[in-house]
Amino acid sequence: MSTQNTFREELIATARAIATPGKGILAADESTGTIGNRFDKIKVENNEENRRAYRDLLLTSENIQEYISGVIFFEEQLLQKSDEGVLFPELCKQKGMVVGIKVDKGVKPLYGTDGETEVQGIDDLDKRCQKYYQQGARFAKWRAVLKIDSKTGCPSELSVHQNAYGLARYAAICQNNGLVPIIEPEVLMDGDHTIEQSFAVHQRVQAAVVKACHDHHVLWEGALLKPSMVQPGSTSGKKASAKEVAYATVTCLQRTMPPALVGVNFLSGGLSEEDATLHLNEMNKIKERVPWNLSFSYGRALQASCLKAWGGDKENKKKAQEAFLVRAKANGLATLGKYEG
Ligand code: 13P
Repeated sequence: MSTQNTFREELIATARAIATPGKGILAADESTGTIGNRFDKIKVENNEENRRAYRDLLLTSENIQEYISGVIFFEEQLLQKSDEGVLFPELCKQKGMVVGIKVDKGVKPLYGTDGETEVQGIDDLDKRCQKYYQQGARFAKWRAVLKIDSKTGCPSELSVHQNAYGLARYAAICQNNGLVPIIEPEVLMDGDHTIEQSFAVHQRVQAAVVKACHDHHVLWEGALLKPSMVQPGSTSGKKASAKEVAYATVTCLQRTMPPALVGVNFLSGGLSEEDATLHLNEMNKIKERVPWNLSFSYGRALQASCLKAWGGDKENKKKAQEAFLVRAKANGLATLGKYEG
C-alpha cells in the first residue's frame, strides 16, 4: 500500500499547468560544462556573467509565456537575476511559467557493462528538493541515458533495470517533497540501428520505467514523461519521414504509458530545429488513442539559432530573442498539429 502524498493536489495542478495545449518546456538547464560546449561554438567565454546574460535574454523574450509553460534551470540560475534585478524564479512566476530544476548529478559508469551508465544524485535528493521548493521550483528533471548497439546488445538488461529504478526512485522522492518529476529515459540516437531496433529498445525501456514507477508508488497524475523519439540511428544512413517517426513514437507510448500520465514532453536529442518541430507536429495530427498532451521540452532545438544570432554580444540581444521566439512559436503550433513550416 502506498501512503497518501500530502502534495497530491498541488502536484496534479502543477503537472496540468505545464501540460497546457499550445505550450511546452524550455530546457535551459545546461550544466556549467554543457553550456561551455555551446559557448565554445560561438566563441563566448564560459563565465557566470555570460551564462546569466544568456539566460536573461531567453527569459525576457517578449511574450515567451504564450508558448512556454515551464522553464528548467540548472542550480545556479535559481539565485541569478535579470538585467532589471529580478530573481529568475520570480521573473518566471510573474510571466506564469512554472520553474523547474535539473536535480540529477550526471552519469557515472555502470561497471561491468560495455560503457553503459547510471545516474548520480539520489543520496541527498530529498534535502535538495526541499531547498529548491523553497527557492520557487515546482518541477524537476532527471535524465537517464541509454545507448543502442546491436553488436554488443546494448542496452543491457542491467542498464535498463538500473536506470528505470533510478528514475522511479527519483520521481517518488520529488513527489513527496512537492516537485513534479519529469521522468527522462533518453535513448540516444547515436548508432547505425534501424527504426525497428529503436522501437524495440524504446518499448523495452518505457515498459521497464512504468513497472519501476508502479513499484515506487509514483502518482501518474502528477508526473510528466520526457522521452526520445523513435527513429533510425544517426549513422545508419537512413532518415525516416516525420510521419514515420511520429507513428512509431506514438505507437510505443500507446503500448506502454498509462492514460493517467498527464503529459509527454519530448527531448530534441540532437535533431535539427526544424525536424524537432516537424516530428512533434505530425504526432499531434494523430487523433486516435492519444490521451496525453504531446509537447516539447527542447534544449538545443529551441536555442541553436538563438545562440548563433547572439554570439555573446549585447547588441545582438533583440535579434537573438527574435530567433528564439521563431522556434518557440513554431513548437507551440506543433503541439496543436498546426505548424505549417
Ligand atoms: P535537448 O532537447 O537538447 O536534447 O535537451 C533537452 C534536455 O533537457 C536533455 O536532458
